[in-house]
Amino acid sequence: MAVVLRPVQGTDMDAMFGMLSDPDSRQMAPFVIIDTDTRAEFEAHIEKLKADPSIKLYSMMVAGHFVGAIMTFDGPAGREVFYWIRRIAWGRGLATEAMARILSLDHSRPIHAHVLSTNPRALAVLENCGFVELSRRDAVETPAPDDDDILLVKN
Ligand SMILES: CC(C)(COP(=O)(O)OP(=O)(O)OC[C@H]1O[C@@H](n2cnc3c(N)ncnc32)[C@H](O)[C@@H]1OP(=O)(O)O)[C@@H](O)C(=O)NCCC(=O)NCCS
Repeated sequence: MAVVLRPVQGTDMDAMFGMLSDPDSRQMAPFVIIDTDTRAEFEAHIEKLKADPSIKLYSMMVAGHFVGAIMTFDGPAGREVFYWIRRIAWGRGLATEAMARILSLDHSRPIHAHVLSTNPRALAVLENCGFVELSRRDAVETPAPDDDDILLVKN
């Protein structure tokens, strides 16, 4: 399936807000950086991200439909990547394809990603794209405080 990455547009906001509000998905990635409760706050936050030249934020499109979002940014660990797929589109290889694509657009290395140990789908995506485990620690202030937060790196 061909995933196209293009800059986020206003027309993506409904689908993106819905995707990031899904409680089960949020539990899989509690360190989400886009963490707003109201639609207005959300849109203001996206505008801030878009205005930051160090952030590459893309919508993932399949046949003209929004299926997810992916971004690279400067985080505490260094350059980081973060990604999210609409629940109805899980399990079709879209995250893996989008990850491979953003790695060809952002050449910063090393590049890092955080994943909970209870998120095997997200781990598989990263390992399939050449990331390896760098460290792990108890995740703090998450809905599942016993999970390990695994930091992976691609050099
Ligand atoms: C994690 C997420 C991005 C995966 O998206 P996706 O499009 O379903 O991912 P893909 O289809 O590209 O790959 C999923 C991989 O997980 C594997 N997988 C699926 N269910 C699994 C399970 N229960 N246990 C282990 N592996 C599993 C698949 O086999 C596939 O690996 P493969 O290509 O080697 O077969 C998506 O579930 C999501 O957006 N979750 C919420 C946000 C999130 O967790 N983001 C991750 C950043 S921390």
